[in-house]
Amino acid sequence: LRAVQFSSFGLADEVLEVNDIPTPKLRHGQILVRVTHRPINPSDLLFVRGLYGIKPRLPATPGFEGCGVVETIGDGAEGFTEGQRVVIGGVMGTWQEYITAQPRQLIAIPDALSDQVAAQFLINPVTAWVMVTNELGVTEGQWLLQTAAGSAVGRLVIQISKIKGFQTINLVRRKDQVPDLLEYGATAVISTEDEDAPNQILDATKGQGVNAAIDAVGGWTGAIAARSLRPGGTMLVYGLLAEERTPIDTGDMIFKGSTIRGFWLTQWLQKTPRDEFAETMGTLMDLFVDGKLTLSVDAEYDLAAVKDAVQHAAQGGRKGKILLTG
Ligand SMILES: NC(=O)c1ccc[n+]([C@@H]2O[C@H](COP(=O)([O-])OP(=O)(O)OC[C@H]3O[C@@H](n4cnc5c(N)ncnc54)[C@H](OP(=O)(O)O)[C@@H]3O)[C@@H](O)[C@H]2O)c1
Repeated sequence: LRAVQFSSFGLADEVLEVNDIPTPKLRHGQILVRVTHRPINPSDLLFVRGLYGIKPRLPATPGFEGCGVVETIGDGAEGFTEGQRVVIGGVMGTWQEYITAQPRQLIAIPDALSDQVAAQFLINPVTAWVMVTNELGVTEGQWLLQTAAGSAVGRLVIQISKIKGFQTINLVRRKDQVPDLLEYGATAVISTEDEDAPNQILDATKGQGVNAAIDAVGGWTGAIAARSLRPGGTMLVYGLLAEERTPIDTGDMIFKGSTIRGFWLTQWLQKTPRDEFAETMGTLMDLFVDGKLTLSVDAEYDLAAVKDAVQHAAQGGRKGKILLTG
């Protein structure tokens, strides 16, 4: 089977290659899935560079999610049928044609959900939902500020704000993203190209600051987000897009009682009981089927063109995810 692999850590367009490897053997209790679609997420590119929270033994195959079709059901595995479309999550190495998984790593895909959405169903929707509802508990009428608001997670958070009735202040790094996100349903969109972004945040919240914030950028953008918290507010940091650490005002943490902590989906998946996980998946699946949540795709590339695909994924101004097919 064809597998995208890397034998040394580095930039994805330099170190990735497509190799022929043996089809993985089914062990007791496993299911063999023919993978058809997988997204290129920022975490995949960090993983290939050796900068992610999980460092693999080399050679390794990237990809923490995707979707496909059940090919073979091994002895002792149940809950699925051959030919069924499934989301694959909580695994490593979806950037290959076949993967083995435990039934608990698969979710049945309803007919109404396209492969393009199913391929990116797990990581970003669950992250967006769990951060703002479970972890921060942002309620109707409150203000949430987010950075990298034009990202897939950012757009999901804006859609969730409409479902839950909270207000969003959205920081983006390019002015041309402002009208697009306003049309999407953002309450306010501020470009960090404007030097007075902190004042604009205060103006939008009538001098109060925001109840909660989520930051995927870091550096000075992360610092602006942290400073925007009102007393008692909480910020979750969940991405390293700027590759700079955030200078935090520890005085604010003392005198305003603000909290800043990290969020990593991998840890949430490890600690969350099976029934709570299933309930969250069910809620999200219903929201996608009802059209209240959507995800977009900018382009699809066959696995063989993975270098072009990762170059496209690294470009600014995309209108959605880059998917690898085949
Ligand atoms: N902690 C977790 O468990 C977890 C889970 C899921 C996602 N994440 C993180 O969430 C973030 C978003 O992921 P995604 O898949 O939604 O991203 P995405 O759809 O690929 O979009 C990336 C976005 O980030 C913006 N961006 C890139 N570099 C930036 C920088 N230096 N400063 C400001 N904006 C920048 C891009 O803006 P342009 O259009 O201008 O390029 C684009 O809007 C990533 O950091 C990812 O690792 C974390």
